[in-house]
Amino acid sequence: MSDSLSVRYGPWALVAGASDGIGEAFARELAAGGLNLVLLARRTELLQQLAASMESEHGISTRCITADLTSPDILAQVREHTDDLEIGLLVYNAGATHGAAHVLDKPLESALGLVALNCVGPLSLSHHLGGRMRARGRGGIMLLSSLASLSGGSYTAVYNATKSFEMILAEGLWHELKPQGVDAMCLMVGATRTPSMLNSMPSFAAYPGLMAPAQVAAEGLGFLGRGPMWVAGAHNREIARRLLPNPRVPQIKALSAASAGIFGKPVLDPEGEDF
Ligand SMILES: NC(=O)c1ccc[n+]([C@@H]2O[C@H](COP(=O)([O-])OP(=O)(O)OC[C@H]3O[C@@H](n4cnc5c(N)ncnc54)[C@H](OP(=O)(O)O)[C@@H]3O)[C@@H](O)[C@H]2O)c1
Repeated sequence: MSDSLSVRYGPWALVAGASDGIGEAFARELAAGGLNLVLLARRTELLQQLAASMESEHGISTRCITADLTSPDILAQVREHTDDLEIGLLVYNAGATHGAAHVLDKPLESALGLVALNCVGPLSLSHHLGGRMRARGRGGIMLLSSLASLSGGSYTAVYNATKSFEMILAEGLWHELKPQGVDAMCLMVGATRTPSMLNSMPSFAAYPGLMAPAQVAAEGLGFLGRGPMWVAGAHNREIARRLLPNPRVPQIKALSAASAGIFGKPVLDPEGEDF
């Protein structure tokens, strides 16, 4: 499966949030398929260890970027390390919330940090790398969202809202870019056994139905190119179908046709599967 990803999308993939958990699992899966990797996160040592083992196990090339995705100059940092590469696949993974509290009980800066991580970051990287993919006529963009994005709710309200932005952005990118050879999608994730979640909440280990990061990454990559959104895990798909009872593809097409009508734009009609 990953072999065909390197043929379809090109020689390099960038994983944003690659040092552990689901991002690390994506890196391993992509390296096994022969893709060269740009690995981005804040912990240099973990990135370098992962890069070295992927190089020796799979004979790929790697670059590590130590950066905070919430930095105002994140795009400049990414460009400095990647402008000379053909990045055919972007996986924007980082984005979990750590801890739970009412919106007004946390500093505004904390909420704005989530907006930077889950809205500004994916938009900036998708805009820059997606533009280059569109010019080449091929590429893939995967934005990770969460079942929590499907409703507002107490304790993680800003997180839910920012993950909703990623879902809606990915769906729109899918519809706009599919006719131009670029596959965008949202990977909707439910409770998954990642260091990030276990460290912020030890009781999380006992949460029922936890998925393994490798399973989430494999399902996401398996669906890339087939439609706008995949929900990892059969039990999570059941939940998502209850919260999103209408199939996404006809809904995205109908809304796009309405916007095309209002603004006098051409109607696009890409084919895609629902989750
Ligand atoms: N795990 C779950 O139960 C669950 C459930 C629903 C959705 N999701 C979604 O799945 C994705 C991955 O979640 P996760 O649980 O693995 O935890 P995460 O904290 O979102 O991701 C961990 C990875 O992202 C990096 N990272 C985090 N913040 C960063 C920042 N500001 N700048 C650069 N890198 C950053 C971390 O490395 P460094 O610390 O080295 O920077 C690590 O490599 C997220 O989008 C999350 O919303 C997860």
